[in-house]
This record gives sequence, structure tokens and C-alpha cells, in this order.
Amino acid sequence: MPNGKGEFIMETKVIEVDPLNIEEEKIKEAAQAIKEDKTVVFPTETVYGLGANGLSENAVRKIFEAKGRPYDNPLILHVSNVRSFLEYTYISYALLEKIERLLPGPITFVLKKREVVPDIVTAGKDTLAIRMPAHPVALKLIEYAEVPIAAPSANISGKPSPTMSEHVLKDMLGKVDYIIIGGKVEFGVESTIIDLTQGKIPIILRPGPIPPEKLKEIFGDIIIPDFVYGKIEPDYIKSPGMKYRHYAPNTPVILVEHDDANTMVKKVLEEVKSYNNPLVLCLKEHVGYYKDHNINFDTIGSESNYYEFAVKLFEMLRKYDEKVDAMIIEGIEDKGIGIAVMNRLRKAAYQIL
Ligand code: TXA
Ligand code: MG
Repeated sequence: MPNGKGEFIMETKVIEVDPLNIEEEKIKEAAQAIKEDKTVVFPTETVYGLGANGLSENAVRKIFEAKGRPYDNPLILHVSNVRSFLEYTYISYALLEKIERLLPGPITFVLKKREVVPDIVTAGKDTLAIRMPAHPVALKLIEYAEVPIAAPSANISGKPSPTMSEHVLKDMLGKVDYIIIGGKVEFGVESTIIDLTQGKIPIILRPGPIPPEKLKEIFGDIIIPDFVYGKIEPDYIKSPGMKYRHYAPNTPVILVEHDDANTMVKKVLEEVKSYNNPLVLCLKEHVGYYKDHNINFDTIGSESNYYEFAVKLFEMLRKYDEKVDAMIIEGIEDKGIGIAVMNRLRKAAYQIL
């Protein structure tokens, strides 16, 4: 809890688990903490989450305090079985059958909420974001806690989501009761969120690891609003303001977008000249363009594997933060998990070229 001066003075217990060989006793200890309205950081397959008993207003308030998260931003309720969807939301069996095909997995569903879920979780809305994660540690923690776990990503509000143990230790040590370290995450971007409350066709609210094609297979049709691509309105490009930056490191991110690789590289090489100590984050296939130019660069995935780009994205943003004076990043195509990557990058960007 904050000590009144906005500082945190909590003692955090760090538990290390091997997701492939989980020691049950360790998870049980953390689950007991959840039962006692304490806060527990835990790994999921997308990013690390900062959890507490989702049925306790007192516990959920601690999440908002630890993150510095505004109370009008609702949380995702994490559950460990399909039955819980019936317990916490109003959902037809026909719809449940469809979403079951995606469970457990990196996707969150917005549904009409039942009374039992406290208003603090949903920020007073009558809808609930609910997700059954695929990570064995997350599932066991929820199961042993015997309550659903409300959890946002375990970063300080506005910063890149944590994908590695170092990240959660840096952001959350001293602010939560427990941190479960379970290695690196599988996807590296937050879950896909779809809204199932607006008519018959699901609407994507946040792109993530489950791509639109997969959703079309299951739901037949899917609405992808423009904001899903994270594109800034033309006017805002002229005056990039803090207001539109999310997931943002302190070092400015310059995103370079172009369908044609040669043109994109040219723009990157031009932009590099504007800084004293820039870093270029590029696709593996483009290393040849930069290595002879005496340019500081690192690779962030390859053209043939956007999943690799996704899993390295927040790691790179954190690794080079405050080590360089600009991160100039090559964009990728808006397809598959690339949509999620570009959504996060466009939001993190100080400037888009
Ligand atoms: O992968 C994930 O989803 C991770 C892991 C920890 O599960 N969690 C995560 O939570 O990304 P968070 O709080 O960082 O992002 C949740 C997003 C927020 O943008 C929030 O506004 C939105 O979900 N959200 C929550 N409840 C909602 C609701 N009822 N309607 C619409 N959006 C909602
Ligand atoms: Mg977040």
C-alpha cells in the first residue's frame, strides 16, 4: 500500500516456478494469498498479469493502487474453466460452444456481466471482459484460489507490458505481495479482445495473438473497426502528443512504415541522421542494409515469423529504453499477429514516418 507519500513499502515475496514442472506447494501458497485479498503477479501466455480476488472489491482496489491505473479503466476477469463463463456472464449455450473452441487461449470476451462481479472490476460498466488463459501456472493459481482473478498487465500504467521476469521485478517489487516468476511468455502481446454484446457479429476491440482469420472461421463474420489498427488520425501526426502514447518507453519510438522494403530502409537511413545515438530495430532480412553504415542496430524478428516479432517487441522497447536517444523501428504488414504488433507500435510511437 502507498505510505501516503505515494511510495510503496510492501514486502514482496518472489516465488520461482518452472512451468514445465510446477511445484504445487508454491502455487498453493500464492493461491492462499489471493484468498486473503493479497496481490499476486503471475505469468500468462501473453504477458504477466497483476492479480487479486476478482470477487473482492477490497482486493481489486489494491491492483489499481499498485499500477497507478485510473479507476475508469476496467479489468479482465481470469477464470480456469468454461463453467465460469456461465457463472459471471450472461451467455447462450450456442455462443459458449463457439468460444469453447478458443479456450483456454490468448483471447478475452466482452459479455453482459452478472451481479456477482463487483463494479470496481468493470469500472461500473454492465459488461465484463473475461478470459481463460492457457498458461499452466495461471490456470493452477486460479483453480487453487477458488475465485476468479481480476488482472491487468503487470506494468506501471502506460509502460510496455512485462514479458520477462526482469520486467515484473523492475515494475512491481515493493508494490505487490507476491511475484510468481515463470520464465518468458509465449506470445508477448496482450490477448485479442472481442465484444460479443453488440448484435450478432463480434467486434474486435484489441488485436492480439488470435488473428481475425481464426475468428472468422468460428463466428462466420467479424467486425474490425479502424481503431484496431492503432492508426493516428492525420491531424495528430502533425502534433504527436503524449496523449496518444501508450505502451511507451521514455526514449522516443519512431515507427517507419512502407510496403516496399527499399523505400522503408531509405527512410530509416535518413531518419538516423537526426539523432546522436539512435538505435535501429530491424527485420533479420534487412541486417545487410545497416551493417555497413556504422549504425547501431538490433533485430526484432523476421519477415517469415511475425510471432517472433511480437514476443520480442516489449522486450526490445524496455531493453533499449534510456540507453539510446531514439528507437527507429521497421514496421511490418497488418496481417495475422502483425496487426497486434502494429497496433502496439503505432500507439507507442512518438512519430510515424
Ligand atoms: O493478455 C491480456 O489480456 C493480459 C493478461 C494479463 O491477461 N491482460 C491485459 O489487461 O492486457 P489490461 O488491463 O492491460 O488490458 C485490458 C483491456 C483494457 O484496455 C480495458 O480497457 C479493456 O481490456 N476492457 C476491460 N473490460 C472491458 C469491458 N467491459 N469492455 C471493453 N473493454 C474492456
Ligand atoms: Mg495493459
